[in-house]
Amino acid sequence: MNRDNTLRAVLTKAPIVLVDHSDLGALVDFGRRVFERSFGHLNTPENMQAYLDQAYTLQQFSKEHAHPESRYYMIRHQDRIIAYMKINWGEAQIETFPEKSLEIQRIYVDHDYHGYGLGRRLMEHSEHIAQDMDCEYIWLGVWEQNPDSIAFYQSQGYSIFDYHIFPFGNEQQKDWLMRKWL
Ligand SMILES: CC(C)(COP(=O)(O)OP(=O)(O)OC[C@H]1O[C@@H](n2cnc3c(N)ncnc32)[C@H](O)[C@@H]1OP(=O)(O)O)[C@@H](O)C(=O)NCCC(=O)NCCS
Repeated sequence: MNRDNTLRAVLTKAPIVLVDHSDLGALVDFGRRVFERSFGHLNTPENMQAYLDQAYTLQQFSKEHAHPESRYYMIRHQDRIIAYMKINWGEAQIETFPEKSLEIQRIYVDHDYHGYGLGRRLMEHSEHIAQDMDCEYIWLGVWEQNPDSIAFYQSQGYSIFDYHIFPFGNEQQKDWLMRKWL
């Protein structure tokens, strides 16, 4: 087995863990790093900094973590966080819909670990949770300038049904809303 296949085999079994309050410091660090790497080159440094300072702080993550209708999950490799996801339901969702639904608000995989099936595993995990809650669908917002993730979501059975405006620093960005019926 080559190194790639060995790593793939290890990552296939890496547990998806519910984030504890004590993990939040490391999660904020990871979240900032991966967000900046994903979108830093597509935004002004000022807007990026403003958004990170608003959304990616220990105070903000702690507040979100404490919400009874939100959960953070993560995957670790060699004691480091390599992927995480935040889901919301009920009142915690960013948009409200008439049907019972679950939102994937954030899903991020360390760039060194893309393509190993971690994103797919996190999506499947959220599906199981949504099914257990009798949700009719899972939905998410994705920046229109993020074609790789749009293609990823399409590959997982999601399709665009609407859009919303996402304030990012001094810009109003457009997010496609995508959903998968369960
Ligand atoms: C999007 C992201 C979560 C996907 O995670 P990943 O672990 O790299 O994806 P996986 O390895 O699980 O891929 C799962 C499937 O999606 C497909 N896929 C992944 N990226 C794709 C792309 N750009 N285009 C088409 N299909 C894609 C894979 O081929 C794979 O198919 P398979 O299940 O048939 O093998 C990850 O790339 C990421 O964190 N990106 C940067 C941050 C980001 O943009 N997050 C989303 C914000 S809305």
